[in-house]
Amino acid sequence: DASDTEKGTYPHFMLKEIDEQPIVMRKIINEYQDADNALKLDEDIRKAMQETDRVYIIAAGTSYHAGLVGKEFLEKLANIPVEVHVASEFSYNMPLLSEKPLFVFISQSGETADSRSVLVKIKELGHPALTITNVPGSTLSREADYTLHLHAGPEIAVASTKAYTAQIAVLAILAVDTAQAKNLNLDFDPLQELALVANAMEVLTDQKEEVEQLTRNYLATTRNAFFIGRSADYNVSLEGALKLKEISYIQAEGFAGGELKHGTIALIEEGTPVIALATQENVNYSIRGNVQEVVARGANALVISMKGLEQDEDAFVLPKVHELLTPLISVVPLQLLAYYAALHRDCDVDKPRNLAKSVTVE
Ligand code: AGP
Repeated sequence: DASDTEKGTYPHFMLKEIDEQPIVMRKIINEYQDADNALKLDEDIRKAMQETDRVYIIAAGTSYHAGLVGKEFLEKLANIPVEVHVASEFSYNMPLLSEKPLFVFISQSGETADSRSVLVKIKELGHPALTITNVPGSTLSREADYTLHLHAGPEIAVASTKAYTAQIAVLAILAVDTAQAKNLNLDFDPLQELALVANAMEVLTDQKEEVEQLTRNYLATTRNAFFIGRSADYNVSLEGALKLKEISYIQAEGFAGGELKHGTIALIEEGTPVIALATQENVNYSIRGNVQEVVARGANALVISMKGLEQDEDAFVLPKVHELLTPLISVVPLQLLAYYAALHRDCDVDKPRNLAKSVTVE
């Protein structure tokens, strides 16, 4: 049961929360499905989504990374232009707003001060706001016009895991619901696809020993690590790097494969770990090229690919899910890599230094 606030037999909340991800996916399917197996969503939210000409996603940290994935869903499936903004930066360079903006706040805790200050500002300007949160009674949820609940159960570990995948799942449902309300023809049933994701997550959470071994092979003594990906994999590489740095204190950076030659490749030395994601067919060839470039400069490359796209040298192959939803599964081995890296370095997994679970100061 994902609603438990006890560790039970788990050594850390983070590991428990990683393991809860398939349960959370199934809970979300249940909560957003009506008796006829159609999507169930608040009519007011449906209307707000139909009326807006541009969505402005505001979030911080991991929730910002989920927003980047959500942008792809809303643009590709529901045909709505989307901007994703880091909450703390928004006020300095407030973009020129469209005629009918809708602000979507993504926040596990619903208490992040940087996001709240944007909410206060845009409410003063009279714009509508939707909060997607794991805590329905939270400040961001109370002060917005509409709320979508993540149903992930309490997330205790400072490093966010199940909230990230819940945010992505709910954003996929929101995008498809909007597309349906706009009578756009979609060949994508999110509930069915999320059920397959839940099964795939189960396979992955059973592969802990394999990931622990990869952690030993690639991250045992390193001081830094790079995550690369293109397209959807780029978004996940940002999250993989954040997870690793926040709990293992390994300096980590996620970036777009195509950006290597524009600077970062200068940092590649003998033995530098480079974790490359390859889950997208249309960029598989290009990301493989990047892997060759870093290997030629001595990198220790760990390729995580999706079934159907794998090559002999890949260290880890993910079960196949719908291409739009790969972030939900490619992140799982990255969460586990971070977990084992922190564990092997004797770091405080659930309460990393200098960090708070919810950041209530600006
Ligand atoms: C995630 O692992 C971090 N601890 C952090 O980036 C977090 O996602 C961020 O502070 C936003 O929190 P929120 O989702 O509760 O708003």
